Amino acid sequence: MEKTLVLIKPDGVSRGLVGEVLGRFEQKGLKISELKMMQMTDELSDRHYAEHVDKPFYPRLKAFILSGPIVAMVLEGDRAIEVVRRLVGDTDSAEAAPGTIRGDLSLSKGENIIHASDSSESAQRELALFFGTKVVS
Ligand code: RTP
Ligand code: MG
Repeated sequence: MEKTLVLIKPDGVSRGLVGEVLGRFEQKGLKISELKMMQMTDELSDRHYAEHVDKPFYPRLKAFILSGPIVAMVLEGDRAIEVVRRLVGDTDSAEAAPGTIRGDLSLSKGENIIHASDSSESAQRELALFFGTKVVS
């Protein structure tokens, strides 16, 4: 079994899409093994998005991710990391395929509802960051 970190971003929470998003993962057969609503902090944003902090879009991304509560979860299942990325869809929601979360529920590249770990290394790092080492296998 593999574990991955998913965040429902402030747009997903404020638009009332938490149930819709959780339902898609449950229907796929993934197990929600940890779940919490929380507020991203300045420091956590910089650590979570370490690969992006020097990019031109980071100030806008940071302001957005701090703009309201998020929902953080651990999803567990066979090949969970790649399966969840496929369910989430392309970064730019306007180009994300129909049937994906971004493809069905957003039109934006920045406000794209959801974050999901993109590799085994990212998942290990992000699971530790949001839920501590207890969930890292
Ligand atoms: P995420 O990390 O949120 O799961 O999204 P991702 O892997 O599909 O995309 P990534 O390249 O990691 O970018 C992280 C988030 O930054 C925002 N972004 N804005 N050029 C831009 O305006 C731009 N590029 C990226 C998006 O919110 C993206 O999800
Ligand atoms: Mg990413």
